[in-house]
Amino acid sequence: MNSRYLLACESSCDETAFTIYDLESNIIIASILDSQIDIHEKNGGVIPELASQCHYKIIGQLLTKILTMSMLSLADISFFAATQGPGLSGALLIGFTFIKAIAWAHKKPFIPINHLEGHIYSAFLSNINIEFPYLCLSVSGGHSSIYLVESFDTYKKLGQTRDDACGECFDKIAKLLDLPYPGGKYIEDITNNSGIFENIRQYPISNLLDGSISFSGLKTAILYDLMRTNNYDKNNKKIKNKVLNEFIVDVAVSTQYCITLMLEHWVLWYLKLYPVESVVMVGGVACNEIIKNRLSRTLASLNINFFSAEKKYCCDNADMIALVAAKKIARNDFKHMTYDQGIFNNAFY
Ligand code: KG4
Ligand code: ZN
Repeated sequence: MNSRYLLACESSCDETAFTIYDLESNIIIASILDSQIDIHEKNGGVIPELASQCHYKIIGQLLTKILTMSMLSLADISFFAATQGPGLSGALLIGFTFIKAIAWAHKKPFIPINHLEGHIYSAFLSNINIEFPYLCLSVSGGHSSIYLVESFDTYKKLGQTRDDACGECFDKIAKLLDLPYPGGKYIEDITNNSGIFENIRQYPISNLLDGSISFSGLKTAILYDLMRTNNYDKNNKKIKNKVLNEFIVDVAVSTQYCITLMLEHWVLWYLKLYPVESVVMVGGVACNEIIKNRLSRTLASLNINFFSAEKKYCCDNADMIALVAAKKIARNDFKHMTYDQGIFNNAFY
């Protein structure tokens, strides 16, 4: 059958992923993801060069695997899509040029996809009943923004972080506490195991001023708290070995508490300006059940619907890239390649 299958690739950070999407029945027929978390865990964060090497090593094998899983060959694929950015440039280049070269060799359309658009629409992968317009709280390790989303091709960024991303803040604080990457997950686990929001330490909650938010002040306040309480090893730039576990738990719980309140204040600020009926939370931080429960309760009390992307779609994946590409194909909203020029021209940017 003609023009039926789309192959999408994501490689913007520490996940290499492919999805094959059936454009006729609008379903994902195969999806595969290789996470580098166990490699970056011990370094307390993603090392860009190491991430690029991991993508490079695995990408060919993953492509072979997904084609085998779906019993298709490259010749069966009618459209190719890959994340263009934003993200780590070395990591992006590997997925992007790999897929672009295959599309060029097969003389098929190649569709570059914005990673953030992937996140914005990711909740549709499991909640098909979300109605436009909605506010999208998109919070991950690389970005933190609130959007007004009006349709599959119209959205507007309303506010963003002035400094660190929300997930980055979790990760940096976790690193200070000598907890592994991804910090948000470990801080949430500690909070859940400790009994929620007890012994809160007094850290500042970002003042919204113009609707933008700041996360770096929280990290700095925690660093000063560690130094003031003589718990910080300046030479090794981390918490001292002898620090009591109860202290680490209190700092982790306080981090979870502050970030939860900051995100809630932020959403409520924009709801006053844009009184929509639904709020959708996406991105890696949307894995955090404590934040989601709080937002869901607060919004329910205001008669506002709350949706979030399913956990498997919160962190980076190629399903969300395939979904955005499929919508673009349906609208014919992409540039067609010209085959009379070399692959390294800009013909299809
Ligand atoms: O969306 P994502 O996989 O990659 C980016 O596009 O950045 O998000 C990764 C981020 C990390 O900063 C990580 O700490 C955060 O998502 N994260 C969490 C949780 N799980 C992952 N943050 C809070 N709570 C979690 N359970
Ligand atoms: Zn992402």
